[in-house]
Order: sequence, then structure tokens, then C-alpha cells
Amino acid sequence: MPPGRLMLLLHFLLLLVFVAAKDARINRRAIVTRYNPTRNASSLTTPMQVGNGNFAFGADVTGLQTFQRFAIMSTWGWKNDSLPPGMTSEDIYNYSGVSLDNHGRNVTYMFNGPQPMLQWMISNPNRVNLGAIGLVFYSEDGKELQLAESNLTEIKQELDLWTGTMTSRFVFDGFPINIQTVSAQTVDGVGITIKSPLLRSNRLGLFIDFPWNDGSSKFSDPFVGTWTNASIHTTTLEIAPRKSVHAEIYHTLVASQFITSLGGDNFNISRNLPSDHRYTIRPTSHSGSFSFSTLWGLQRPRSIPSVGDMSSSSTQAWEAFWSNSGFVDVVTGSTDPRADELQRRIILSRYLMRVNEAGDYPPQESGLVNNGWVSSCPPFFPSKFQAKVISTRKFHLEMFFWHAQHWALWNNWDILLESSSVYDRFLPTAIARAQVQQGWPAGARWGKMSDPSGRSAPGQINELLIWQQPHPLFFATYEYRAFPTPTTLRKWEAVVRNTADWMASFAWFNTSTGVYDLGPPMYQVAEDNVFNNTLNPAFELAQWRFGFTLAEAWIQRLGEEVPGSWSTVREGLAKLPITNDTYKVYEDVEDEFWSDPTYINDHPALVGLHGWLPPTQGLDLGIAKLTTEKVWAAWNISNLWGWDFPLLAMSAARIGQQEQAIEWLLHPLFEFDDVGMPVGGVRVPTPYFPGSGSLLLAIAMMAEGWDGSEGPAPGFPGKGWGIRAEGLSKMM
Ligand SMILES: *[C@@H]1O[C@H](CO)[C@@H](O)[C@H](O)[C@H]1NC(C)=O
Ligand SMILES: *[C@@H]1O[C@H](CO)[C@@H](O)[C@H](O)[C@H]1NC(C)=O
Ligand SMILES: *[C@@H]1O[C@H](CO)[C@@H](O)[C@H](O)[C@H]1NC(C)=O
Ligand SMILES: *[C@@H]1O[C@H](CO)[C@@H](O)[C@H](O)[C@H]1NC(C)=O
Ligand SMILES: *[C@@H]1O[C@H](CO)[C@@H](O)[C@H](O)[C@H]1NC(C)=O
Ligand SMILES: *[C@@H]1O[C@H](CO)[C@@H](O)[C@H](O)[C@H]1NC(C)=O
Ligand SMILES: *[C@@H]1O[C@H](CO)[C@@H](O)[C@H](O)[C@H]1NC(C)=O
Ligand SMILES: *[C@@H]1O[C@H](CO)[C@@H](O)[C@H](O)[C@H]1NC(C)=O
Ligand SMILES: *[C@@H]1O[C@H](CO)[C@@H](O)[C@H](O)[C@H]1NC(C)=O
Ligand SMILES: *[C@@H]1O[C@H](CO)[C@@H](O)[C@H](O)[C@H]1NC(C)=O
Ligand SMILES: *[C@@H]1O[C@H](CO)[C@@H](O)[C@H](O)[C@H]1NC(C)=O
Repeated sequence: MPPGRLMLLLHFLLLLVFVAAKDARINRRAIVTRYNPTRNASSLTTPMQVGNGNFAFGADVTGLQTFQRFAIMSTWGWKNDSLPPGMTSEDIYNYSGVSLDNHGRNVTYMFNGPQPMLQWMISNPNRVNLGAIGLVFYSEDGKELQLAESNLTEIKQELDLWTGTMTSRFVFDGFPINIQTVSAQTVDGVGITIKSPLLRSNRLGLFIDFPWNDGSSKFSDPFVGTWTNASIHTTTLEIAPRKSVHAEIYHTLVASQFITSLGGDNFNISRNLPSDHRYTIRPTSHSGSFSFSTLWGLQRPRSIPSVGDMSSSSTQAWEAFWSNSGFVDVVTGSTDPRADELQRRIILSRYLMRVNEAGDYPPQESGLVNNGWVSSCPPFFPSKFQAKVISTRKFHLEMFFWHAQHWALWNNWDILLESSSVYDRFLPTAIARAQVQQGWPAGARWGKMSDPSGRSAPGQINELLIWQQPHPLFFATYEYRAFPTPTTLRKWEAVVRNTADWMASFAWFNTSTGVYDLGPPMYQVAEDNVFNNTLNPAFELAQWRFGFTLAEAWIQRLGEEVPGSWSTVREGLAKLPITNDTYKVYEDVEDEFWSDPTYINDHPALVGLHGWLPPTQGLDLGIAKLTTEKVWAAWNISNLWGWDFPLLAMSAARIGQQEQAIEWLLHPLFEFDDVGMPVGGVRVPTPYFPGSGSLLLAIAMMAEGWDGSEGPAPGFPGKGWGIRAEGLSKMM
């Protein structure tokens, strides 16, 4: 065949392949919109949300906060409470914690200390609710009406996941009202379009209100802030401060100021009473349609995008999100009746992760929905914890893995690179923690409960937990697998080196046994151990070994010499503790621990030895399998929550028990509500987003496989399940 013809034929064949591939593409839009949430009444516990990852707007059934004041939150909205009387910032600066013996090394940890200073350090800075916007209804003769949701009829609300558009329709006094709410994508605000004949007769307006926020409340869920403490914060209104900004409200809480800028169609705005922070907005055109856009921020914006601009940026950003990253279709090709619910969880989790957890910083457990994680010890915790205070609002670096690692496997690099750069940003504080505060010879020790400056809150668990330490090695390695370039290697080099250096510093050479030990003092994953006598927890030993493997590979790729201490410690680490025929949680636990409530009520990290982690050096796969099955049978499953279930599913997938993997992902205690919010379950408030992140991680693993897995969708049962995946990457 002449070369020209051959080329033509090749082109034709390529075209065929392309067309076939195109035909075979998943109809993503059909699957996404099939799970558009709808409501006909407000939930009393969870909002329907729009947002952009740094900003989220939680709405009731009116598409605003008319009847339920769900929060408007951001990654940048933080404030400090006033210092307790008599206390100065120098006291905080001088606070030195306690000294504990670490095998002859005197290490200073930040816990114990004078109250109320310690509690202030834990509660601050805290994250604020930026405000509330709702409808105001007027009678025919112009009087403001006090309505309840029950005064509305024919309520129908729908969230279009494909475009991020919330549409809320209802009827009041015989007149229809239609409200569209969208979130801006490159700035932080919402566009609201109201259509109703009631606007023509000047019977509809809006209120905007501002709450007091502080770090004192025990739970800030489902609502955040209080609306009654008007005298201890201020708001001021400025009319038409700049072109296109019709009005601006400056909200000051102690020393922090948050700015709300209002634009769109013309309106009048006035403060209800000088003694509160509620403002009333009355549209002036009486045209039957009112477009209103708002921005929130720390600075005055030059201008405010129109509702139309916000709407098209929302559509573009969401279409791109759904179209250009990973996708899994478990429902089209499946006959198993459970596939529909699993697909619903996947789609809604993808949506909520992008709204709540796609920001510049690692997210808090409840994302931008509320301040849900408790600020003091919940009653079900063992009494030994009761003296301590846990915290709120900040982010927990050990949970960052569950919140964010899925972005790598779903190829959402634009999102992940924002928050995973936190390791680079926090490196100086982590080095100071390791070497200055704690006196280790080398490396960086990653904190646990962190604020945006990298400061870790005081507390025993905060200071003594260690499983957050290897996480950056995972983030780095997945990034290198996606972008195997010298730039990636250099970018992470300092983080990788300092992470592994501290891991090597922390491992202690026990001359009587000739091995490197982890701890004491330390807390293991489940946090249910006594920190000062815990030695060699199984999961952390495996994680340390694997972490060194990743760090060593990194340095080898750079063509440089691997620090000797890393391989020495990796080779010399204690063997995994073992009892009878299974691994055990840590070394000094009695062999009967499987039936002791002390050990079987919290995160079952033992199943992570082969599931979450791939097989690590020295792991006996037979013993790991018996351990996994023993956990399934012996652990107090009724006390588990959130990411425990995907963790269990991954353990099932690795050992080929795919049916069991599905059962774990759909376990009755692992719930997602009508809008996809991960229900906290027995232990924590709703939402608990590590549940959503870990679900997506497990799904990617089960659908795309892991290093060494065979065949398509190796984590799903063959019978009844037809799985199609696009654009995913394998798990290690
Ligand atoms: C409202 O929605 C719920 C749950 O989706 C449904 O059971 C109920 O019938 C609906 N009520 C009305 C009046 O449509
Ligand atoms: C809160 O106070 C701490 C300690 O003084 C300070 O580092 C931080 O910047 C403050 N944060 C805010 C939001 O004011
Ligand atoms: C803080 O420490 C400095 C230096 O040790 C000391 O001079 C100062 O008095 C301390 N301040 C307080 C409030 O204790
Ligand atoms: C440990 O170091 C702290 C702070 O430097 C010091 O106050 C303490 O006395 C030391 N403890 C021991 C046992 O050396
Ligand atoms: C709102 O509902 C309440 C309770 O059903 C009723 O008493 C009231 O008249 C209603 N208000 C209006 C303006 O319809
Ligand atoms: C806010 O108001 C509540 C209820 O009136 C009150 O209990 C609380 O002490 C106030 N908080 C502050 C900081 O004033
Ligand atoms: C807006 O304010 C102007 C000037 O005070 C007033 O004349 C007008 O009636 C107001 N319009 C509405 C809809 O409140
Ligand atoms: C050395 O290891 C043994 C066995 O694990 C342990 O009992 C002992 O406490 C360790 N020594 C020290 C000083 O920690
Ligand atoms: C271990 O810690 C507990 C609680 O802080 C303390 O009561 C106990 O004395 C410590 N034991 C040792 C051996 O340090
Ligand atoms: C050890 O294993 C044997 C056989 O599997 C079993 O019968 C026995 O109860 C186990 N002992 C403990 C302490 O778990
Ligand atoms: C298992 O968990 C349940 C639910 O939290 C709890 O009520 C029960 O006491 C636990 N059982 C054991 C043996 O600890």
C-alpha cells in the first residue's frame, strides 16, 4: 500500500477508535443530574449548599436563610476572642507546657497549664458565620409579616448539581415566588434572583443580619453564632461606597472586620434598629424580578460581579469539574439494587467535597457547613479524657488524608494543589515544633489541630498523636505519579526530607532488644491508649516503614544519597506486635484485648495494615488477613463512625472479599442524608466530611484498582455490578 494510503487508513482507524471511545464515554450529565437533591421542606439539621471550596452558603427551603439560619462560611473568616482578664499575649508567648521523658530526652509538649489561658489557646482563633440573608414579606398595606415556613405552600426546591444552581419555588398568599441562588466561583459571594408578582406590589424584601461568634459554645451545629448579643459587636453601613457597590456593611467582632458588599438591581437599605445588626433591603424597581449579588471578604472589592456573571461562572466551573476529572458509573451497568444508593453517595459526595473542601487550607471536620466538631469532651469518652478539652473549627492534620487524598485519585489536581501546599507553608512551624519546642535533633513534626498560621492547639492528643506524620509522603508520591518531573521532586524535597528526618529521630533504639521502637509517649490512631506506656503500635510501625520507603524512593529519583538513618530505622524497626494468630494494636496490650472494650471501640486501624496501606516490609499477608477478619467479627462495629467504614471496605477489597466491601460502604451506621451530608452517627455531629472523602477514596480504589491488582474494578463483586471508570488513578 502506498504510504499516503496507509496514512489515510491509519487516520480512519484512529477516527473509528475515537468515535467508539466517544460513544463509550459515560453520559456524565445524565448520571449527575439524576441525583439532583430536591426538598419540599427545610431540614432542621442540614442546609442545601452552594459554594466554591473557600466559601459556602447554606440555605433553607427558600434558597436563603429565611427560616433556618444555616451558616455562610469561608476558609478565611477567623477571629480571636478577647483575652481573658489579666492575660496578655506575652503569657501565650511564654507558655511552655510540660516536659516528658522520651527515653532520656527531655521533650516539652504543649499541654497542661493555667486556665483560662489554655482554653483560650484552644478556642482561638475561631471560625465565624458571616451572616444570614432571608426574605421579608409584607401585607397589602405594607406591614411586615412574621411568617413561618408553614405559611408557604407548593414548596419545591431543587439543586442542579451540573451547574451549581439552587432553585426554590413556593407560593405565598396565592402568589408564586421563584428564587435562584448561585455561588460565585473566583470570588466569595452569591447571586440571588427573585421572581414574583409580589415584587410588583412591593410586598417582598430581604433582610441581612450578622451574628456574634466566639469560641465558647460547646457545639456550633447545626447553626453557628448567636443573634442576641448585639451589644458586643458592631456593624456600620455605607451607601454606595464605590461604583457598582450599592452598599457595604462592615462587621467588627473584637479585632476582626468582615466586609459584606451588596450589588445588583437597585434597592433601598436601612438598619432596623440602632441596637441590632439586621438591615432591610427593599427593591426599588417593582418589575417582578430582583437580582441581588453579595460578596464577603476581608477587603473592599473594587466591584461586584452581576448575578448573570456569577451564574455563568458557576455553570462553567461545575461543568468543568464534572467533565474534566475522574468519574465512576456504578449504576448503568449494574443489576444489584444497591448500586443506585452507592451512585447517589458518590455524586453527592463529589459535589459537597468541592463546595466544602476545595479551599486553600485543609478543611475542618464539618467543612463550611457549621462548626461541628466538639469543643469540649463529649460524655461518651472514657473518663480519662474528660479533663481535657478537644476543639473546634480548626483543621486536624491527621484527618487531612481522609478529607483530601481522594482528590489525587480522581485527578482533581487544581483543587488538591491548593490545600496540599499547606505542608510547604507550615514547614517552618513544623521544624520549630520538632527542633526548638521539642528539641529533636532533626526534621519537622507535623501538628495535629492547626490554625491557618500553622500553630497547633495545646492538648495531650494534639501533641502526642503521630499518624499525621507520614501523610505528606503520600500526597507527594501521588503528585509525582501524576506529574513525574524534576519540578515535582524539587517542590516536595524539603517537606519529604524533614518529614522522614523526624520519623527517624522519633524512633528510639532499644539496646536491650536491638530494635527501633515507636513511643512512648504517644497516642495511636484510636486515641484510646495510655500515652505514657504505649509502645510499638502496629499501624504506625507499618506506616513508618512505608513512609521511609516513599521518602527513600524520592531521594533516589533526585539522584541523591538517601540519609542513612532512614534505611537504618526502616530495617531496624520493631516487628509488628502479634498475639496468638493475629496482629495486635500495640506491644504491651494483653493477648485477650480482642474482647476488652478498652481496645475495640474506636478506629480499627489494624485493618489498615493491608487495605489502607499496601503490604509493607515484613507484613505476613496470612496473619494480616486473619487480623482483618477478626476485626470484622470482634470489633464493636456499632460504635464506629465516618471513615471507619471506607477503611473497612478497603481492607475487604484488598483480600478479595468484594461483597463485604460493598456491605461496609452501605452499612446502616454509615449514612448520607437526602442532600448527601455524611451523618455523624453515634459519635460526632453532622456533617462529618472525612466520611465523604474516605468513601471517594475507597470507590476510586475499588473501581480503578491498586498497584498489583488485576482486572477492571477489582474491588467490586463481579456478579450484579457493571462498573465503568474514567480518569481515575490507582491507589498505591
Ligand atoms: C415531601 O417530600 C417527602 C420526601 O421526599 C415526601 O415523602 C412527601 O410526600 C413530600 N410532601 C409533599 C407534600 O410533596
Ligand atoms: C489570634 O491571635 C493569635 C495569637 O496572638 C495570632 O497569632 C493570630 O494572628 C490572631 N488571629 C486573628 C484572626 O486575629
Ligand atoms: C515572659 O518571659 C520573659 C523572658 O523570660 C520574661 O521577662 C517576662 O516577664 C515573661 N512575661 C510574663 C508575662 O510572664
Ligand atoms: C526539661 O526541660 C524543661 C525546659 O527546659 C526544664 O524546665 C525541666 O526542668 C527539664 N526537666 C528535666 C527532668 O530535665
Ligand atoms: C401564617 O400561619 C399561621 C399559622 O397557620 C397563621 O395563623 C397566620 O395567619 C399565617 N399568616 C399569614 C400572613 O398568612
Ligand atoms: C450572649 O448572649 C447569651 C444569651 O443572652 C448569653 O448567655 C451570653 O453570655 C452572651 N455572650 C456574651 C459573650 O456576652
Ligand atoms: C426608597 O427610598 C426612597 C428615598 O428615601 C423613597 O422615596 C422610596 O419610596 C423608597 N423605595 C422603597 C421601595 O422603599
Ligand atoms: C525495650 O524493649 C522492651 C521490649 O519491647 C520494653 O519492654 C522496654 O521497655 C524497652 N526499653 C525501654 C527503656 O523502653
Ligand atoms: C502516665 O500519665 C498519667 C496521666 O498523666 C500519670 O498519672 C502517670 O503518673 C503517668 N505514668 C508514668 C509512669 O509516667
Ligand atoms: C488463639 O488461637 C486459638 C486457635 O485459633 C484459639 O482457640 C484461642 O482462643 C486463641 N487464644 C486467644 C487468647 O485469642
Ligand atoms: C459498643 O458500642 C455501643 C454503642 O456505642 C455501646 O453502647 C456499647 O457499650 C459498646 N460495647 C462494648 C462492649 O464496649
